[in-house]
Amino acid sequence: MGRFAPPLLGLAAAASLGLATWAADQGPALPSLPAHPLGAVTPAGLLAEIIPDGAQNAEQLRRGQALTIAGDCMSCHIRDGGQPFAGGLGLNTPFGVIYSANITPDANTGIGAWTNEQFYRAMHEGVGAHGENLYPAFPYPWFSRASRADDEAIFAYLKTLPAVKYVPPANHLPFPLNIRFMVKGWNLLFFRPHDVQADAGQSAEWNHGAEIVSGLGHCGGCHTPLNFFGAAKSDQALQGGDVDNWVAPNLTANARTGLGAWSVDDISEYLRTGRNARASAGGSMAEVVSYSTSLMSDQDRRAIAVYLKSQTASPDRAPGTPDPGAMRRGGAIYSDACASCHLENGVGQPRFFPPLGHDAMLQQADPTGLEHLILAGGRVGPTATRPSPLIMPSFAWKLTDDEVADVSTFIRNSWGNQAAPVDASKVRTLRRRLGLQATHYTANSGDQG
Ligand code: HEC
Ligand code: HEC
Ligand code: HEC
Repeated sequence: MGRFAPPLLGLAAAASLGLATWAADQGPALPSLPAHPLGAVTPAGLLAEIIPDGAQNAEQLRRGQALTIAGDCMSCHIRDGGQPFAGGLGLNTPFGVIYSANITPDANTGIGAWTNEQFYRAMHEGVGAHGENLYPAFPYPWFSRASRADDEAIFAYLKTLPAVKYVPPANHLPFPLNIRFMVKGWNLLFFRPHDVQADAGQSAEWNHGAEIVSGLGHCGGCHTPLNFFGAAKSDQALQGGDVDNWVAPNLTANARTGLGAWSVDDISEYLRTGRNARASAGGSMAEVVSYSTSLMSDQDRRAIAVYLKSQTASPDRAPGTPDPGAMRRGGAIYSDACASCHLENGVGQPRFFPPLGHDAMLQQADPTGLEHLILAGGRVGPTATRPSPLIMPSFAWKLTDDEVADVSTFIRNSWGNQAAPVDASKVRTLRRRLGLQATHYTANSGDQG
């Protein structure tokens, strides 16, 4: 979710060269998000929020609930130990922390006193109750595509939730980024409030998928690369983006790095359970699955899949050839550290230990997601149908930067995979950013983990 902060980078660069230089100096120390309170509220609990008995607008409330799920509002509007939708989750940016707002119906600290008009303006134009510009850490550039009726349904649903009295901490943004006015300039350059226009040449299902993916679902918010100013590159929609020191993979039809080999059923199953016969949903996708896609209807998930399968393949670049030495060393590390779960031939145990052959996620041009997973470990979040999470252990304590690079290079070039070799210096930088130390670099320091 830190993904929605980069616009600030561009803002700073535009506003002040000094600040931009400061940002470059700060590069390696870039913080990542704090541990997310995933599991504080079970996905089933979110679904169970009941529509009040005899509510006259039960139909609207049910729709509002489904749209709130599609927009993944929960992932951002809850903090560790906090109440659902009360906000206070700090989104780290290179410049400071932006906290999500309290969107429960408390009249003083939440949005209980808001009018329909104010809520619509927030969602559609990114403008707060007092006319102030909201930071694009709140994904209004995507939410803008929801219709007014949909926004009213979301607002009506939110108002049925328990009111929580809670004021999120103040944002820590240094001058001049704390001036919300600057967001106005960014909006002028990069943001047009709009509704999705149906494409008459496509099926109703396809159009429904488009509406979710490029609207409330804000899938491109992570999966589309950003330009220098932190705005989505619309000509490279869904070709893969970086998010929180992780990579949101290419979702176009690219056969190597995208969803070219996935069927509509593969995609639907992944969105429902966080796993399928090909991959598992780690990183921030775990939260998207737990709080959003696993709770959608089968029709919604299928529509998303149908839409994604229609995306033209991104151009492919020939990856470099790996060094035979790195392949040999990486193969030995793999046998030692990874084969117990993913098996010697990489076939794993589908839906438990993902198979690694022909795997799009690990062939992304940018290997940060793979390095992150090996260093920090991974977790596929719980869903209603699969309540226990899947855990991949952290190897930060076991493997040196060179070893992480070699084993990454090895799996990126085995079992049908083909991707550029991984550089140990990048692993070192990432390890520092994540604040993960490697302790046993000498042969006699014992086994740390
Ligand atoms: C990627 C994280 C993220 C997601 C997803 C998200 N929000 Fe937010 N939201 C934020 C942040 C951060 C702020 C505070 C922005 C600021 O201070 O300028 C915010 C602010 C808001 C505000 C303004 C509140 C105020 O007091 O000014 C509203 C309303 C809101 N969000 C509603 C929603 C709804 C409804 C959804 C789901 C459809 C949603 N948000 C999903 C991060 C998110
Ligand atoms: C907060 C950022 C974020 C958002 C929003 C998001 N994703 Fe993801 N997505 C990721 C990340 C990160 C991964 C990589 C997961 C991993 O490494 O295991 C991913 C992986 C995936 C994959 C698997 C790709 C592969 O090759 O393994 C699919 C399919 C997917 N996302 C679909 C979606 C859809 C559809 C939406 C919108 C409803 C969406 N994502 C929204 C971050 C996001
Ligand atoms: C104890 C069992 C275990 C071991 C050992 C293990 N993994 Fe994993 N691995 C998992 C589980 C469980 C997942 C799914 C969780 C996730 O994606 O975050 C996973 C996911 C992955 C994925 C993501 C695949 C995808 O497409 O979603 C890759 C790549 C991976 N592991 C590589 C490795 C490497 C390299 C090693 C050795 C350094 C290793 N694993 C060791 C259990 C293990």
